[in-house]
This record gives sequence, C-alpha cells and structure tokens, in this order.
Amino acid sequence: MGKERERFLDMVVYQIYPRSFLDTNGDGIGDLNGVRARLDYLCELGVNAVWLCPCYKSPNCDNGYDISDYRDIMDEFGTLADWDELIKEMHLRGLRLIMDLVANHTSSQHEWFKKARLSRDNPYHDYYIWADVPPNDWQSVFGGSAWEYNEPTGEYYLHSFAIQQPDLNWGNPKVRREICDIVDFWAEKGVDGFRCDVLDYISKDFTADKMYNGPHLHEYIRELFGRENVRHLFTIGECSLGGRDVCDICGENRRELTTVFQFEHLRFDGVDKYLPPSFSLDDVRDVLIKWQNFTAENSLLYTLFTDNHDWPYYISRFGNDKELRYECATAIAAMFYLLRGIPFIYQGQEYGAANSYYDDISAFNDVETLNYYKAREGGTPRARLMAEVNRGSRDNSRRPMAWTGDTATAHGFSTAKPWLKTATRADEINLEKDKKRERSVFRFYQQLLALRKENECIRRGSFADLTNERKGCFVYERALGEDRCIVVCNFDKAQEIVLPSCVKEGEFVYALGNYKDGEEYSSRFRPFEVAVYLKK
Ligand code: GLC
Ligand code: CA
Repeated sequence: MGKERERFLDMVVYQIYPRSFLDTNGDGIGDLNGVRARLDYLCELGVNAVWLCPCYKSPNCDNGYDISDYRDIMDEFGTLADWDELIKEMHLRGLRLIMDLVANHTSSQHEWFKKARLSRDNPYHDYYIWADVPPNDWQSVFGGSAWEYNEPTGEYYLHSFAIQQPDLNWGNPKVRREICDIVDFWAEKGVDGFRCDVLDYISKDFTADKMYNGPHLHEYIRELFGRENVRHLFTIGECSLGGRDVCDICGENRRELTTVFQFEHLRFDGVDKYLPPSFSLDDVRDVLIKWQNFTAENSLLYTLFTDNHDWPYYISRFGNDKELRYECATAIAAMFYLLRGIPFIYQGQEYGAANSYYDDISAFNDVETLNYYKAREGGTPRARLMAEVNRGSRDNSRRPMAWTGDTATAHGFSTAKPWLKTATRADEINLEKDKKRERSVFRFYQQLLALRKENECIRRGSFADLTNERKGCFVYERALGEDRCIVVCNFDKAQEIVLPSCVKEGEFVYALGNYKDGEEYSSRFRPFEVAVYLKK
C-alpha cells in the first residue's frame, strides 16, 4: 500500500451526534459550541479525528439527514461562524474534521425540491426522480412504498428513505455539478474529509430488486472525488457492498473513495435489529477474519467499528451489558481496535454506554422507529412490540451523552429538558462515575489508544488469525518486522485458551488487559477477559 494511503492507518476517529453531545445555550439540544467545549476531552481520550454527523440546515425529519441548505448550519446547532471557530480549534489540537455528506437525497424543504415539484417544466424538476406510474415496488428503508404521489405534477417521486427525503437524480449532470460544488465549498473551508451517507444509492437500476449499487455508481464517485482539488481528502462511503465492488469503490488506484464502512458484523444478511440476533460473537470473529484477510490481499483500508447512530449499542446486542458490562465493553473494544484498520469510536462507547428501556413510544423520536411501531401497532401484542422497539431503536445510541451523575442538568448534558429522554441507566452509567471506578472503561480506552499510538506494529502490521478453539474466543497476531502483538479475547464464560507458544513471560510483556490480578500469563480466561501481549 502506498505511503499516502498507509498514513490513514494512524487515524482514530470519534463520531459525534451533535444533537446529543453537549448543549451550551440551554435549549436542550446539543450544539457546535458544545463540541468545541469538549475538544480537550477528545484529546485526553486519544483520538485524532472527528466525524461530525450532519449539522446543516434541516427540518429534522431524520435529524439532519434531510438537508434543506448544504452551505449553512442548522439554527439549533449554531452559525457558520461557530463552525469556523470549531474547525480552527480542532486543527490547533491536531484533530481532523470529517463532515457528513448526504448526497443521495435532500429534504423535501430544500429549494430545489420545492421548485421541482411545482410543474413538469420547472428547471429543477429533473433534479429528482419522477414516474407517471411507479416502475417497481421498491419499499423505502423506513417502511412503506418508496414512491410518493405529487399532486401538482400528477407524478410519483422516489424516496429511498422518508417521504420527506426525495432522492436526487444523479443521472442529471447538473445535479452532479451541484454536489461537486458543495464538496468544494467545504473543502475550501478546510474540512479533512467526508463520510458519505448511503453513497451506494446514488446510481439506480429501476429493474433491479435493490435500490442501490446501480450501473453508474463508480463513474459518479470518480466524477465527485477523482478531481485533483479534492484528492487529498479522507472519504469514506456508507455502503452495503461486498467482494469485488468494495475493491472497485476503494481500491488504491481507482480514484474513488479512501475506504468504506462494511456492515456484515452488524447486520449479516437480512438480520433484523429489532429481533434477537441469530448470530453470535463467534460469527462476528469469522467475519472480521474474512475482512482482515480480504483487505490485506487487495491492499484496501478497513474500518473498525461496533457502534454508530443507526444501531443499538453493540454490547447490549451481542454481549453482556449487565453484570459484565465493564469486561464486555473493554474486551470488544480491544478485539476490534487492535485489528488492522481505522478505528471509529461512537460517543458514549468510551464509558460503556448501554441500551435504554422505555415503556412508552412517546419516549422515542426516530422516524425509523416510529414507522416501525406504526406499521405493527394493533397487529403485535404491545409488550412484544415495545420489547422490539427497545431492542432495535436507533434512539438507544442517540440519547444525550451522560457526562456526570447530576440529574438536575440531565447528566451534564443540558440545563434544560433534553430534546430526547436521557438513557434510562444514566445514573449508573455516566462518564464521571466511570472515571472514578477502579475498573474504568474510559481509562481502558485511553490505554488501548495509547498502545496503538505507540506501536507501529498495531497500526500498520499484518494480521494473522491464531484461534484454535473455534468457540467463544479470538486470538490473533499483528506483526511488523520483528515486532509482535498478540491479542487473546475470550467472549464466553471462563475457559482455557492455550496461549500461542511464543508468548512466554520474559519474551513478551503483558501490555493491556481487563483483569489485572497476577494471572496475566495464565491460560485460564475469565468471562470477557482480554489480554494483549507485546514482544519485548
Ligand atoms: C444513513 C444514515 C442514517 C440516515 C440514512 C438516510 O444510513 O446513517 O442515519 O437515516 O442514511 O439518510
Ligand atoms: Ca443548544
């Protein structure tokens, strides 16, 4: 892999959902000044980049993923001047800023769409996708038909997501030009990269059963990011692609993207997050091994993540967020973030945040969750439906950050009533309390990231799977020149895991673990125990 690309392996990204991060002006909604107020905190944690979820003007049908003006900041989040100040302060601290680029659709309140829907001969009409009769029975990701009738023109428009999120017509060169201009606008303001929302949706084949990965996908991406002035940016696509398509979209000489988010370890094919998962951490391990090998064979950059704003917390879904919460949060973090790739940490993970439980649908805000509920209300017994909603809702990870134990300030998030109810376990699980514990998730994250930073072999070395027993554990090695790092992770009940024979006291040091009690070199592993060894 070329040097230019390899340096991205030194990045550690922290994802911020600004609405829920920190409110500084007392309106119950997180804001850009809240992000700025916590930059030192991010440095203390040990990250060096931030992915900021959308902060552009938006009516918030999908919390910012429905943009009505791509060149301005949402009123609730602040102003462009606040944003300028934010990026300045970030760069002063060596933090890069990755903005969210939502280019598959706009808000129905965007000027383009407001005009487009007026008449068939409006100059903006062709910015969107229209049909006299729906050409297929595509279902929107958020439920219901993906085609919505528009009275004034007597046509249907396509919305892959909510009705208020009409899909742009990327077949129209003017639309592609507009998106290039938006990218240039922010690039000139100094952003370091873009996380590209559902990028695989921008090209469509109306005869296919899937709404994504159409025939012009790669051509459009090259037109956008292959340009000289934006080649230096870090670009990451949210894509549901596999195999060859991944090589094409982020292959080294393709002039498309730097990398993609790959979701197999979260979704497997067709798995519904509202239902109990039908796969285990053993399956997750096998998927990780597959992608470690695949990306190495094809010189691709891989991304390491467990959580984001679209999923319930990983430790709640696959692990144990009750009596083994600390062990589970730290073991999973070590298992993922010591692999080869770029770590992405979602806000809250670093203090072991877990899912909430609310009895009533009024405690939820997310359009996807509310649509899910509406579609099943009446047909599914209420208790079961609420269990599903609590298990799968995106609001789990969107609840305000719990900075402190102080309930009078919504756990340090705001002096006002927060826009979304705080996490139900925030009294027990908050940053302040975590930091005071002897077994602190935050401190483990700090040590983990410091270990990555100090060891080139972890950042850039090769990967080899050393797992013998195929149940409940993952043992792997990272190697660079003479340097070695061995990670042993038990994600089952206590069991014997034979350490690789090279790991002997004296030759390897125990660099990190979540049960430090004199049994550092023992082959008996406790539940969710992880041990990391470095060659001396
Ligand atoms: C992506 C975003 C998600 C959003 C959707 C539509 O999947 O991550 O939050 O709802 O795109 O923009
Ligand atoms: Ca605010």
